[in-house]
Amino acid sequence: MATPSPAARPANPNFSSGPCAKPPTFTLDSLKDAALGRSHRAPIGKAKLQAAIDRTREVLGVPAEYRIGIVPASDTGAMEMAMWSLLGARPVEMLAWESFGAGWVTDAVKQLKLDAVVKTADYGEIVDLAGVDFDKDVVFTWNGTTSGVRVPSGEAIPADRQGLTICDATSAAFAVDLPWDKLDVTTFSWQKVLGGEAAHGMLILSPRAVERLESYTPAWPLPKIFRLTKGGKLIDGIFRGETINTPSMLAVEDYLFALDWAASVGGLEGLIARADANTAVIGRFVAENDWVDFLAADPAIRSNTSVCLKFTDDRIRDGAAFAKAVAKRLDKESVAYDIGAYRDAPPGLRIWCGATVETSDLEALMPWLAWAFEAEIAAQSEHA
Ligand SMILES: Cc1ncc(COP(=O)(O)O)c(C=O)c1O
Repeated sequence: MATPSPAARPANPNFSSGPCAKPPTFTLDSLKDAALGRSHRAPIGKAKLQAAIDRTREVLGVPAEYRIGIVPASDTGAMEMAMWSLLGARPVEMLAWESFGAGWVTDAVKQLKLDAVVKTADYGEIVDLAGVDFDKDVVFTWNGTTSGVRVPSGEAIPADRQGLTICDATSAAFAVDLPWDKLDVTTFSWQKVLGGEAAHGMLILSPRAVERLESYTPAWPLPKIFRLTKGGKLIDGIFRGETINTPSMLAVEDYLFALDWAASVGGLEGLIARADANTAVIGRFVAENDWVDFLAADPAIRSNTSVCLKFTDDRIRDGAAFAKAVAKRLDKESVAYDIGAYRDAPPGLRIWCGATVETSDLEALMPWLAWAFEAEIAAQSEHA
């Protein structure tokens, strides 16, 4: 007998972990003031790029002495630009707890050929931060998008460290109160917590990171797209909206809209509260159902943006096939798109809980999860 389906559906089935749901008030009309067909070097273009920087600073509470730049190639561009420009000056420790962090390890070890200390944790865990040597340069990911974990706080990072901390905060920015005094390089992309468009990355530099840039020249060549200094001095314009190459003014307008929306829901505090409320919906569901659990066992390191779940029912015969089939059912019903676990992660589901997702949509989704689970268990025994 077919499992009856729930009566209500989420109003918005977009629970993808990137690009993430647009802000709930977004329509294409929100972009009508875009400086289309105009030069990004003209006053109108420059003013919009500068506004994107200024409003990022306001919402995230970035200290005035930190630089914020808009760079090419999304978060990957910002991270690789930082790694290629800064690493090699002193010993390096690479921390990884999911596939993007693992990608930065490959960059450091295989591409830059650095003799780095590499510390990794399994999916659902992070490394022991108390054992990290912050007198080395340390590269890490704050919220692990593919494993549903996050760094609990900046407490383990000493204020008087000798090394630089280089933090991929793509799934953390706008969802976590990032401790700026503990971060020398912070990167993210527009397509995550604020539901912006991809292609542009944000690079935030502490005064110590700038000092390194101005005093150290890496041994390897730097493509134009990675160059942050000229003649040993920081290229100041990058941090005033004079981008290295041509940005999309449509994407800039979209990001400005997203920042306005962020302010309208109470700024950083409001954004964090929305992500936390969303994650709590899943937390209650997991507590009520013994066939599903968080991939991250320890609540202290559980992400409030990309929430990763695993199925724990003994009746499941092929974990990967089961999880895929559940995600497919939900997709087919148009109640949840793109929630299968990341290709390199353990089988399960990954549900985005960042601020642009409405709590009411997550509440509506939960009965559908139970429905898809029961339906798949039934289908599994029919095919036995
Ligand atoms: C933690 C993390 N780092 C890096 C990336 C890469 O981001 P982008 O594709 O915007 O360069 C992602 C994308 O999902 C991510 O989640």
